[in-house]
Amino acid sequence: MLEMNERKRQRLQAFEIEEATIETLRPFRSALHAEIDGILDGFYEHMLEFPEMRRRFSDQDSVKRAGRAQRRHWLDSLLAQMPDTAYFKKASDVADAHLRVGLTPEWYIAGYSYVLKRFMDLLIADDAVKAPVVALNKLVLLDIASVIETFIGAKNRLMVELLRRTTAFSEEAIGLCADLDERQRGLREQLKDNSSKEEMLATIDGLCESIERLRTRLDELRTSDKLVQPKARARTESGLFGVIRKLFK
Ligand code: HEM
Repeated sequence: MLEMNERKRQRLQAFEIEEATIETLRPFRSALHAEIDGILDGFYEHMLEFPEMRRRFSDQDSVKRAGRAQRRHWLDSLLAQMPDTAYFKKASDVADAHLRVGLTPEWYIAGYSYVLKRFMDLLIADDAVKAPVVALNKLVLLDIASVIETFIGAKNRLMVELLRRTTAFSEEAIGLCADLDERQRGLREQLKDNSSKEEMLATIDGLCESIERLRTRLDELRTSDKLVQPKARARTESGLFGVIRKLFK
């Protein structure tokens, strides 16, 4: 098995997840075996009340497949053992699957709110204890969903801005190439027509100017920070590419 990378190891430490965490949930996992199907029936019933969620499933088979996969996720993956490389790979496949069906993280997290509520029914018999735990779970998950939505929104806006600026740059570069083309044609004509030395030198000067403009723009693209507006540049040290690189690191 692949060595779990440092970032994932650190994540487990930050969440304070250790063998004892899994151990402590063993009896719960055993009890869950008998209950998970009922919980997931309730889960899809609840989720499918929302048109936004219904649209994600192509047909009834898709709901069944998602249910079977989710059952495996809880029993055979998340609660089965210390999260390892295989777990993180699966988590990333699950994210890909939900991305494919267009599910946003906020809705995905809302799903956890429902499941956690039902899990608390199995764990806490005393309603006076359970009610605040369930309420707290709901609010904390809402908080996570809201912040994640903002993170992703900010990243998306940056990406859109980058695309807009690189498209504008490409259009400008194409214009400069057309200009170069036109000038070199002009020079050929002047050579054919035996134009004066001064006329040809003026065309060559124009050609050099266009090359210089193109070179400058290419250099700006390479160093990237000229791509962002002065206002945005002031906020960052290394321009839009730098911001995006930092965000996706
Ligand atoms: C508690 C949160 C959730 C968990 C743990 C979960 C788990 C899973 C898993 C493990 C898969 C299979 C992924 C794969 O193919 O690798 C899956 C697929 C899917 N899930 Fe979820 N899911 C959750 C929330 C939701 C929600 C809220 C929706 C609502 C639309 C949803 C819709 C789907 C769909 C449409 C698929 C694809 C099913 C297919 O094969 O056609 N999931 N889910």
